[in-house]
Amino acid sequence: MCGIFGYIGPHQASPILLEGLRRLEYRGYDSTGLAVKNGAISIYKKVGKVQQLREILPQTIEGNMGIAHTRWATHGGVTDENSHPHPSAQGKVVIVHNGIIENARMLRTSLNVQGVKLVSETDSEVLAHIIERELSIDDNPEEAVRRALRQARGTWGICAVFKDHDMIVCARNGSPLIIGQGINEMFISSDPHALTAHTQQVIYLEDGDLATLTATSVKLSTLTGGDSSTKGTTLENDWGESELGDYPHFMLKEIYEQPDALRHCINGRLDRTRGSGKLGGLKLSPAALAKVPHVRLLGCGTSYNAAEIGRLLIEKLARIPTFAHISSEFRHNDPVIHPSALHFAVTQSGETADTLSAIKEIQLKGGNVHGVVNVVGSSIARLCGRGVYIHSGPEQAVASTKAFSNMVAALSMFALQIGRSRNISKERGVELIHGLQQVPHLVESYLENQGPILEAVELVKNAKSVLFLGRGISAPVAKEGALKLMEIAYIPCLAYPAGEMKHGPIALLEEGSPVIFIAPNDHVKTKTASAIHECRARGAKIILIHEEGDEIAEEGDVCISVPPVHNLLSPLLTVVPLQLIAYHTALELGCDVDRPRNLAKSVTVE
Ligand code: AGP
Repeated sequence: MCGIFGYIGPHQASPILLEGLRRLEYRGYDSTGLAVKNGAISIYKKVGKVQQLREILPQTIEGNMGIAHTRWATHGGVTDENSHPHPSAQGKVVIVHNGIIENARMLRTSLNVQGVKLVSETDSEVLAHIIERELSIDDNPEEAVRRALRQARGTWGICAVFKDHDMIVCARNGSPLIIGQGINEMFISSDPHALTAHTQQVIYLEDGDLATLTATSVKLSTLTGGDSSTKGTTLENDWGESELGDYPHFMLKEIYEQPDALRHCINGRLDRTRGSGKLGGLKLSPAALAKVPHVRLLGCGTSYNAAEIGRLLIEKLARIPTFAHISSEFRHNDPVIHPSALHFAVTQSGETADTLSAIKEIQLKGGNVHGVVNVVGSSIARLCGRGVYIHSGPEQAVASTKAFSNMVAALSMFALQIGRSRNISKERGVELIHGLQQVPHLVESYLENQGPILEAVELVKNAKSVLFLGRGISAPVAKEGALKLMEIAYIPCLAYPAGEMKHGPIALLEEGSPVIFIAPNDHVKTKTASAIHECRARGAKIILIHEEGDEIAEEGDVCISVPPVHNLLSPLLTVVPLQLIAYHTALELGCDVDRPRNLAKSVTVE
């Protein structure tokens, strides 16, 4: 979603800002802009990609300080005027803003009454004008921002530059901002990835923080004018390359990174001697695990699909009631929170607003939440304080692939850990450990021999809709396959537990309708086979994901086999051909694989 990058220091700001924007591109956006100060403040903004902004910039823009933005439209259409940065009426203040100002309408009206003309339809623009109005009182930028934000209701990550002052003032409430401290230079970004090229020394602003940056200093305070307790930290070296390298798309690169990502996730977290998982970051003793009354997992999109798999594994191995919830629904249903229950927030970005709100609801009601998070130091990782980092490395394609696999792997290890504390034998634990250790190699061997993916693409690429079916642990895999194909190839997809197909979705089938079945060799396979027969009888074309050497292959029109694996771990194999079908279909249809329309990598609004 929207991204912010800012710079103040000895170098020309514009190339640094453009490179910062380029690194924020993966988040998803529809327009970009930057402002550079050199006496006056020059603003350039444009609908489209960073490259289109680059094309309208003059050869050189003099100035050692500036702010830049990628916008994902919420209030107001996708237009140049609505793009950020936004200047104030007299041009003394220029801002970029992430988040939503909820009382913008009221603030607009009062600005109008005072004779201020707003030029955009955004909620953000009001902040520029109010800061300018406040600045006229005492010419103190920090106080002006503080007083302005006290009049606003909503969420913000905001950066402001001033025509008459050499500083950047920024503030956070609900939208992440991270200060990067260089030598005689400072950076500000909404995403740590964009900072790593410049510095590892960072300060994650907390909600309610306000910071004033010069090239050589950072002054932290709070919105109320007190001292901030926020401290600096060193960014961990993310394993994995965040650049494209020789791959045509990030999505393909990330699909291929899955074996190594899985190795990073499980490394050092399996205890063969005890036949258990060893997730130290959870800070949960076997005694504590034995007393847990139930488990709830929360997530959105792909993370929710991974949570559903985690739910099945935990229930199966620990015999404990477990529920998976869509975060955006959770808090609005006034959930009952048990203080001893375990709650997990599953998220790649660690910034998803719906999941953040669900966590706050649980915490407000006295519950604890553990994170299952990819991005180190993200808002959710910090809010939870305890949890499991899934160690996928940077994931840049909007369509999540390797993060899904690592979420499933991390939740499998947790299921094993809690299972051993309550229910399963050491032997069963060791079996699962053995299975998990084989997975990276098995995914690698599948990637070397992918089967007739392109034949599957031929069947789905022009379909009116595609039905994905699976049973048991493959039902959430079906959902994940449908989500992937829908989000990057824009084909309407439905996913159902296979047994439910005859209760409704079967009405959609006609001669040639593609149906993708996920049918690993587990205890529900024969039931899945019945659903295949029912589809075939209605003329459907069956794309079948199955285990190598399994006779069920006779049932498919296009059969894609994956190496056999421990039954409970089949999602880690069966999801890979689904990711590849989505990727190649999108490619075939000429879609922007890495940045599908309307979507954002991290969804920071509710
Ligand atoms: C995945 O392909 C999607 N782009 C999306 O559903 C995503 O999983 C969801 O927005 C949750 O994001 P998170 O994991 O960063 O919380």
